[in-house]
Amino acid sequence: MSAAHRQGNADRWELPPLVVVKTRVPVQREGLVRRTELITRLADQDDRQVTLVQAPTGYGKSTVLMQWVKADPLRRFGWLSLEQSDNDPVVLWRYVLLALRALVPGLADRAWVLLHQRDPDLEVVITHVLNSLLDVPGRLVLVLDDYHVITNRQCHDSMQYFIDHLPSSMQVALGTRTRPPLSLSKLKAEGLILTIDSTKLQFSLEETKSALEGVQRPPPSRGGSPCPPNF
Ligand SMILES: Nc1ncnc2c1ncn2[C@@H]1O[C@H](COP(=O)(O)OP(=O)(O)OP(=O)(O)O)[C@@H](O)[C@H]1O
Ligand SMILES: [Mg+2]
Repeated sequence: MSAAHRQGNADRWELPPLVVVKTRVPVQREGLVRRTELITRLADQDDRQVTLVQAPTGYGKSTVLMQWVKADPLRRFGWLSLEQSDNDPVVLWRYVLLALRALVPGLADRAWVLLHQRDPDLEVVITHVLNSLLDVPGRLVLVLDDYHVITNRQCHDSMQYFIDHLPSSMQVALGTRTRPPLSLSKLKAEGLILTIDSTKLQFSLEETKSALEGVQRPPPSRGGSPCPPNF
C-alpha cells in the first residue's frame, strides 16, 4: 500500500486511514499477577521525562505498562502500539498525534493539518505539538509500546527532538526489546529517566507465589531461570 495517494481533485493529498485501535490501551487478560512494586516505581516521581521498559520478548513489558496505566490516578495516558509499518516518520507522527489527540481532544490542530500536507516539515509539526502540550493541565504520559520496531533514523531523530523539548508535565514511556538509539544520557544525569530492565521485570518471590496460585504462565522469576514451558 502506498503511503499517500492523490484523490479526485488533483490538489487533494490524502493519506491512508489510521488503525485507531493501535492508540487504545490493550485489554488485559484476567488472572495476571499485579506488579505492585513496579507500578509503585512507575507512579513515583513527578518530573520524570522518559521511562524506558527494556527487556527481551515475553518479560512482561506491555503487561506492566498496561497495569501502570490502569493503576495511576495522577497521570493521563496516551498509548500507541507500534508496528513495522510505522517505521516511517510521517506515519509515526500521524499515529503519535492520533494517540495524543485521543488523550487531549483537539490537541495541536495546526500540527494535524500540516502533517497531512505533502512533505511536511516534521520539526515544525512537532514544535506545534510541543507548544500545544504546554497548555494542557495535569501530568501526561505517552506510551510507545514495541519501540524496537522503529529503525528509521529520521523517526529516531524526530523522537529525540520531541523528547529534548518536552514540557515538564509530559513524559514518554518506551516499551522496547532493544536499547533505542536515542541520546538519553543528559536526562539520566539529571535523574529524569527511569529504566526498568529485565532484572527488574523478573517476578519477586511473592509474585511468583501469586503466579503459581493462578493459572497464567509468568515471565522469568528473580534469581532463577525462566519458568519452564507449560508452567
Ligand atoms: N503480571 C503477569 N502475570 C502473569 N503473567 C504475565 C504477567 N506479565 C506477563 N505475563 C505473561 O507473559 C506473557 C508476555 O507478557 P508481555 O506481552 O507483557 O511481554 P512483553 O515483554 O511485552 O513481550 P514482547 O516483547 O513480545 O512484546 C503474557 O502473555 C503473560 O502470559
Ligand atoms: Mg509487548
